[in-house]
Amino acid sequence: MIDVGVDGMAIYVPQLFLEHQDLAAARGVHPDKFLLGLGNHRMAVLPIWEDAVTMAANAAAQLLERTGTSPEEIHQLVVSTESGVDHSKPVASFVQGLLGIGSRCRIYEIKHACYGGTAGIVNSIDWIYRNYQSSRKALVIATDMARYGFESAGEPTQGAGAVALLLSTRPRLFSVDTSLNGIYSKDVFDFWRPTGHRVPLVDGKFSIDCYLTALEESVSHFRANLGIDRGSLLDNLDYLVYHMPFTHMARKAHRHLVEIEAAGRPAEERERLFRKSLQDKVEPGLLGAREVGNIYTGSVYMGLVSLLVTERERCEGRRVGVFSYGSGCGAEFFLCHLKKDLAAVIDGLRFREQLARRTKVSVEEYVEIYSRHRREIRYHPREVVPHKDPFTRFVFTGFKDHKRQYA
Ligand code: HMG
Repeated sequence: MIDVGVDGMAIYVPQLFLEHQDLAAARGVHPDKFLLGLGNHRMAVLPIWEDAVTMAANAAAQLLERTGTSPEEIHQLVVSTESGVDHSKPVASFVQGLLGIGSRCRIYEIKHACYGGTAGIVNSIDWIYRNYQSSRKALVIATDMARYGFESAGEPTQGAGAVALLLSTRPRLFSVDTSLNGIYSKDVFDFWRPTGHRVPLVDGKFSIDCYLTALEESVSHFRANLGIDRGSLLDNLDYLVYHMPFTHMARKAHRHLVEIEAAGRPAEERERLFRKSLQDKVEPGLLGAREVGNIYTGSVYMGLVSLLVTERERCEGRRVGVFSYGSGCGAEFFLCHLKKDLAAVIDGLRFREQLARRTKVSVEEYVEIYSRHRREIRYHPREVVPHKDPFTRFVFTGFKDHKRQYA
């Protein structure tokens, strides 16, 4: 069997953040609702010199550098986003230009709410599998800014960031056998953004129900593909990473999974199993959701990055169940087999370093920044170029002749 999967990953987090404690005070909400109820502590705020393009390019530039990959080696570039910057020109084209990726490369943008990145990864793995003799590599990037309206229920679940994944044969990070993937999709209105709307419309509680149904159905399909019975899934997985629109969604999802897997067992036993498996298998993946918030397409992959930097050598050679969910809705449950000797790959992620470099903004500054995002910015390279740092290598400098400009 040909080994195909993820050779390396990189994450990019913007330079600004807001404390949930401050947002709660400004909104007249008890801070525990955000800190304990949602499990979120901080959220990334996207400055006006950043967008889905810069975040994607900033993640991918790190990845190419750390894996020693030349842009010419990339033959498929897929960018998944629901924060697109143009109705026609894909984010992937902007990224191709910024990274200097050659022209013998298939590039496209995928949209399917938070699930799009997974569609790109699965299709790219299958494409590499079909073309394994030519050792092709694919770059898949999930990049988004999660925006809800000021003072809306979704406001404390905002965030921004990007995750880039390099896919190849003989991967150094993890392999995936896509034939095992459990799939579910259904036409629902749980979270949607009609054309022209800047922020989504959300049926919040219904979206959680849709998510849990999708989890149940995709896990059931995955179990059947793997040839295991209900009740033995947790024994077959060392870790679980769930799509995390807010940190405690992972807790809700895991409780639902344990209730299904342990159905018929006494309540105290189910509770014990839930607590123990939550601590051992789920909590190592929560760092990003707690510190950055929802990054839509990249959220579940930020969970994987969090697991790697938290567990380090403990996760080498282990099996990770990943649940990807996107509103609308589409979902997939798949298995990642982590490789051994991951120290160098994990060190290269530099996730904690990026979190530590951030600057805190006040609620007033956050409101000002997100109000300015609505206006078309003129061309001001000199004002924004000084914001570059070792992680922020590309910035958005505004419009010139109706064309987005980057430096
Ligand atoms: P809400 O109505 O403001 O909050 O909306 P709530 O009243 O449900 O409270 C939240 C939790 O805080 C509850 O815990 C409360 O009990 C608790 P739970 O009962 O759920 O376990 N709480 C407190 N805890 C401690 N101390 C207190 C306190 N007060 C309350 N004082 C909601 C919450 C998530 C609905 C809202 O934020 C929202 O609409 N978010 C956006 C939609 C969303 O995230 N949906 C999740 C599934 S859909 C999805 O994941 C797809 C998505 O990523 C988009 C995509 O695919 O592109 C969103």
